[in-house]
Amino acid sequence: MKVLVIGGGGREHAIIWALRRSPRVSEVVCAPGNAGIAQLARCMPVDPGDRDAVTRLTLQERPDLVVIGPELPLAAGVVDELAAFGFRVFGPTQAAARLETSKAFAKAFLQRHGIPTAAYARCTSVEEVRKALPSFKTPVVVKADGLAAGKGVVICQSNAEAERTSEEMFSGALLGSAETELVLEEFLEGEEVSFFALCDGRTAVALAAAQDHKRVGEGDTGPNTGGMGAYTSDGLLSAETRDWLLKNVAQRTVDKMAEEGTPFQGILFCGMMMVPQADGSKLPMVLEFNTRFGDPETQAILVRLQTDIVDLFEATIDGTADKLDIRMRPGASACVIAASGGYPGKYVAGQVISGLDSVAESDAVIFHSGTALKDGRVVTAGGRVLAITSSAENAEDARSALQVALSHSYAALRKVSFDGMQYRSDIGWRALRDGL
Ligand code: AMP
Ligand code: GLY
Repeated sequence: MKVLVIGGGGREHAIIWALRRSPRVSEVVCAPGNAGIAQLARCMPVDPGDRDAVTRLTLQERPDLVVIGPELPLAAGVVDELAAFGFRVFGPTQAAARLETSKAFAKAFLQRHGIPTAAYARCTSVEEVRKALPSFKTPVVVKADGLAAGKGVVICQSNAEAERTSEEMFSGALLGSAETELVLEEFLEGEEVSFFALCDGRTAVALAAAQDHKRVGEGDTGPNTGGMGAYTSDGLLSAETRDWLLKNVAQRTVDKMAEEGTPFQGILFCGMMMVPQADGSKLPMVLEFNTRFGDPETQAILVRLQTDIVDLFEATIDGTADKLDIRMRPGASACVIAASGGYPGKYVAGQVISGLDSVAESDAVIFHSGTALKDGRVVTAGGRVLAITSSAENAEDARSALQVALSHSYAALRKVSFDGMQYRSDIGWRALRDGL
């Protein structure tokens, strides 16, 4: 079959790498792709957020399956449009994607259906923010309602900072475009876990759990990024917690979305905070939903996937998720991001990357996040440049499996270089410190 993948980062490279391992896939086209993806797929220069351009490309290519990677095409209604033309598309409709594209919608949905989440208030003006602030303790979290590429969440230490941040969100000074609504939220403390469930509109099934590292600096310090690394491990969640998340968060969300007339198909990425309770237990609370695969979590998940990825996509489209047999290699995996110097602030693109050929895929897979070809050479073309990923099997001891996976990823990372390259050398630190 011929598959069209929309997107051009490390997540899409990993999806295409997995598609290429399927005996059922004969051709992959990617829009727009990158230098790494170009080795596995025919790349077409189409903007993923441009619905009409994506539709034109799909009509021209007539793929058997379309896989949407990032959130922008979901927000633009690409799935609705392509499905109306009769294409088989992996990803939620525009209405179902509101779980990610509107924080105000997601919070109201969670509250309406009793799914644990932080207390919040919706505000459409600074005046409303001022009125709502006394019912929150500090720190308080200010969130832009719409998509903000990781920049829409600010943890404020004082009410004055929260007011200032809100003002800057409403005026457009902070995010480039003026927000019309934002969410004030109670600050939660605990450990974060990303839980991924495949959903077919009726049934949710657990795919994997991962932990990513959003801050740019070691020890989780400095500004937020798209993610500087991620890992998965059999020890990350107990079977009991995984079942709880599946039933009380993912399946409940799927049930209620269907009841409300906007069935959810695709992958539900539940960003959870495991909040310690007085009795010593932990209550998982939803920080946010994403309605697409995470980046770099996907790279860490897919290197362990044994089931044909086409089966996963088809089950969500055909409503047969309950029959899926998802098999993962036992053990752990680790993905380390090599980023441009200065990221997440200003950085220089176009730096030549060396050493890419010196890493064997049996040691680590180098997924390309932001690369391009220039005069026959691979150069940097984004803040996050490479996602270096490996897995290790050890069914008895998840912690040593993670250690081995990390050592493979870092050994591979040290073989590649480009001017200004930065990375975190402590990916997985929590799991290694606290045990798994
Ligand atoms: P979000 O885009 O909503 O996941 O927020 C990005 C990051 O901000 C999360 O991964 C958390 O680290 C942090 N965050 C968001 N909401 C809260 C909250 N209510 N309490 C504490 N941290 C939060
Ligand atoms: N790594 C977080 C995300 O994909 O949103």
